[in-house]
Amino acid sequence: MYNEIDLHKININSNPPTEEPSRQYYFMAKCRGWVKDFEEQNGRTPTACVTTFGCQMNARDSEKLLGILEAIGFSPTDSEQADFVIYNTCTVRDNANQRVYGRLGVLKRYKKANPRMKVALCGCMMQETTVIEKLKKSYSFIDLIFGTHNIYKFAELLCTSFETERMLIDIWKDTDKIVEDLPVERKYPYKSGINIMFGCNNFCSYCIVPYVRGRERSREPGEIIREIERLVAEGVVEVMLLGQNVNSYGKNLDKPITFAELLREVEKIEGLKRIRFMTSHPKDLSEELIEVIKQSKKICRHLHLPLQSGSTRILERMNRRYTKEQYIELAERIRREIPDMAITTDIIVGFPGETEEDLEETLDVVRKVKYDNAFTFIYSKRTGTPAAAMADQVPEEQVKRGFDRLLKLVQDTAREQVAKYQGQVMEALIEEVAEERQSDDSAVPLVTGRLSNNTIVHVPGDASLIGKIVPVSLDECHGFYYIGHCVLDKKDAE
Ligand code: 5AD
Ligand code: SF4
Repeated sequence: MYNEIDLHKININSNPPTEEPSRQYYFMAKCRGWVKDFEEQNGRTPTACVTTFGCQMNARDSEKLLGILEAIGFSPTDSEQADFVIYNTCTVRDNANQRVYGRLGVLKRYKKANPRMKVALCGCMMQETTVIEKLKKSYSFIDLIFGTHNIYKFAELLCTSFETERMLIDIWKDTDKIVEDLPVERKYPYKSGINIMFGCNNFCSYCIVPYVRGRERSREPGEIIREIERLVAEGVVEVMLLGQNVNSYGKNLDKPITFAELLREVEKIEGLKRIRFMTSHPKDLSEELIEVIKQSKKICRHLHLPLQSGSTRILERMNRRYTKEQYIELAERIRREIPDMAITTDIIVGFPGETEEDLEETLDVVRKVKYDNAFTFIYSKRTGTPAAAMADQVPEEQVKRGFDRLLKLVQDTAREQVAKYQGQVMEALIEEVAEERQSDDSAVPLVTGRLSNNTIVHVPGDASLIGKIVPVSLDECHGFYYIGHCVLDKKDAE
């Protein structure tokens, strides 16, 4: 594992090893030469900024990028006026792409002021040929571009990029490779995301993810368990198991195992207190999984179960492979078996061919399931997906109207759901010092905690509570969060 490798001991004058991850350690050692030169010339260490767009998978990838940059000798910074800036991009909706183009304009100015600055782009958006064409044509100041499949080669790409003045582009179409044990710089000391699988095989007709993240690949359970054990030894109490469709985890392994079986193994890890996972596809959510969650003391009471649409007709066109009735039945079964389970969802408005009646069906599901939170999206046409070629795109006015109605309903429902726990005492993992939220009495410092069901609670306290799980009384519900207080004295906290 990474901590046991001393980069100084690697002989960079020999040929690079062919096997991974040793090859990447070799290139990290080599990149240190560039850092040393920089330090000699500038009298300071170079700085690096990693900016993340998109989902939790990208956030985790960014921790890996930063881990490598730190191993090489860069000091991390949040400022994009840095010596090295990398954007880890998202392309799930077009506005994510537009934001990147907008911000590249700013980076260009920074680079003019600091010509030694290096700019890199990686992630999902880079897997699109049209994007690469545009970057080559109009953003020639970029030094390095790579995609989602060769992110583990970051050190090697960086090394090659340091040796050339030209734009280096390395995009792979797919990979079946999973490289373990590269350095990671975690954002939070007490919680961490863990990839359990990569890619997606579902091909929902609106979604670009299977094209940019490739086919589904599961990590070996032993590797996952070892990684979590290491994290726990470092002080992590909560893990989030990450995958585009965790419910189909393990199907393509040499020795197949189910997601529920994996969870049982993770549960056994001593010192680990909380387990979360994301995302569950409703079509693959098994009885076995519900049973494992029900029996578990560590699995959090929160399930993210994307609906996308409540109309069976639209669900079929979306290639979701469940009906409105099947979804409702599943949600009701979960609520029956595990009554304190929060259910959240994703919904798309304006999918091609969606009528007012289809939207009514979606609103009906929201009323019936009573989501604890819902992320609502306006349909975005993604080139290359089957839905982009569908003729009956919905007029913007109708989409906007439907979106506003849906948003109001999900907010009202979520408020009601969150308020259910007023006055109760529940355990919260304290995550950070709260931003200023109290209108009066703001002299009392607050910290922000998260309940098992993912609801946020602010309680009086200081930074010493961060990373601890404490019982809190949920005193006042303020819409989507609570103001409460710790029930135990700080010193009694776990
Ligand atoms: N347009 C709008 N929303 C989309 N999503 C995925 N693709 C699109 C698209 N083309 C949403 C889905 C998914 C979430 C991560 O993003 O709701 O669950
Ligand atoms: Fe996209 Fe569907 Fe795969 Fe989710 S399950 S990543 S929405 S294709």
